[in-house]
Amino acid sequence: RVAGPCSLVIFGVTGDLARKKLLPAVYDLYNRGLLPAGFGLIGFGRRPWSNEEFANFVRKCVEERSRTPFSESTWGPLSASIRFVQGEFDDAEAFGRLSDTVSELDRDRGTRGNHAFYMSVPPRAFPLVSKQLAACGLAHSTEGAWRRVIIEKPFGHDLTSAQELNRVVSEVFSPESVFRIDHYLGKETVQNLLALRFANTMFEPVWNANYVDHVQITMAEDLGVAGRAGYYDGIGAARDVIQNHLLQLMALTAMEEPVSFSAQDLIAEKTKVLSAVRLPKDLAAHTARGQYAAGWQGSEKVVGYLDEAGIDPKSTTETYAAIRLDVDTRRWAGVPFYLRTGKRLGKRVTEIAVVFKRAPHLPFETTATRELGNNAVVIRVQPDEGVTLRFGAKVPGTAMEVRDVNMDFSYGSSFTEASPEAYERLILDVLLGDPPLFPTTREVELSWEILDPIEEFWATQGQPQPYRSGTWGPAEADEMLNRDGRHWRMP
Ligand code: BG6
Repeated sequence: RVAGPCSLVIFGVTGDLARKKLLPAVYDLYNRGLLPAGFGLIGFGRRPWSNEEFANFVRKCVEERSRTPFSESTWGPLSASIRFVQGEFDDAEAFGRLSDTVSELDRDRGTRGNHAFYMSVPPRAFPLVSKQLAACGLAHSTEGAWRRVIIEKPFGHDLTSAQELNRVVSEVFSPESVFRIDHYLGKETVQNLLALRFANTMFEPVWNANYVDHVQITMAEDLGVAGRAGYYDGIGAARDVIQNHLLQLMALTAMEEPVSFSAQDLIAEKTKVLSAVRLPKDLAAHTARGQYAAGWQGSEKVVGYLDEAGIDPKSTTETYAAIRLDVDTRRWAGVPFYLRTGKRLGKRVTEIAVVFKRAPHLPFETTATRELGNNAVVIRVQPDEGVTLRFGAKVPGTAMEVRDVNMDFSYGSSFTEASPEAYERLILDVLLGDPPLFPTTREVELSWEILDPIEEFWATQGQPQPYRSGTWGPAEADEMLNRDGRHWRMP
């Protein structure tokens, strides 16, 4: 899987995402030999940089963040392919210069008219950049060559704005040339979920309402709003990650086996799950919101959300969200899916826990059975990637005591190969034109259909419940599960 001749043009190249993820990922791909000799990297931005100055900026980002070791022998040829185009998005002449630069790469570096445009910019800039690309003739594929556009989330703020965004983008780009990034789909463990379910025989027979009690999907972060106040305030935890990452994880957990792993078949199954989602009738009882207050994150004293720089001191934006969803299919009837995410929680951890029903009968009596919980299969998405099986085992001794134990598979100890960063895989997939890991318009819209009523309800509820930084979220979230006779796992 080596990309063919092409270039990658990045808009928003000095932004957080480009610096921390995209530029290091390009280097890592190059270093792993997955980008061709005929490759070009173009940055488009406001700064008055020469090609060399931009290349120095790229080098600094790479040295700080790349996964693979920095080597001059990789950097030399890569840096020779780097160009910078200075300009504003509303400046047609700047797009003219971009077009010239692209032609120059085609001529001098053999990129052969194949170009991908990465919009690492706020959604309000998408329409303008798309129109400029169309006007300067870069948006449309030419004979025997391709043009692709990569769009970063958020894909809108609600269903209506997402539809509008889709309309604008589809006026310029054909559907097969649009790649929407949900970087969770590029994570190794997320794909391992598919391997676990569909490459084995022992999980699928019990992966249904006959055996599963409920599913918990957790994405906890220890960081606060971390310098992203401008983006985050007014968006909140649910729009930021439930609408995309967590609903995608849920779809992959709940879906039927796809006929193949082609984009069409995989997306068909995920779409069915999202279409079958049912919201709780009582949103007050089955959703929870929180906002972090001051507290301790490890040994560091941290301020509350309302005191963070750039946050409106009266903000009602939630930094924690938990919701219960049901999936109205035969496989999942009566099995709740609990989704939760939050910033400034105890630690950074993402996991999918499939929690099984209890054994219907125990043929022995022992006090230690109180320590016997539900069996669970836990897909540990990060940071300690792997899978845990939780089940009861006999405590050594003469009495018949049974207690929960864990059996762990860890990527780190079972494989020597390091997993690629999500963005590496996704950028490579775009350059290869391989679409299975990119959500479609329909999935994005269905996800907003799920979230919109919850957001509308929350908008009437005033201030989210505060929770101390470094804890596991607001009391409301615990009560939400307790009401169903369940409790959150402590990952
Ligand atoms: C992003 C969210 O999509 O995912 C961020 O906008 C969040 O708020 C980030 O911090 C987490 O990504 P990861 O890969 O570190 O889990």
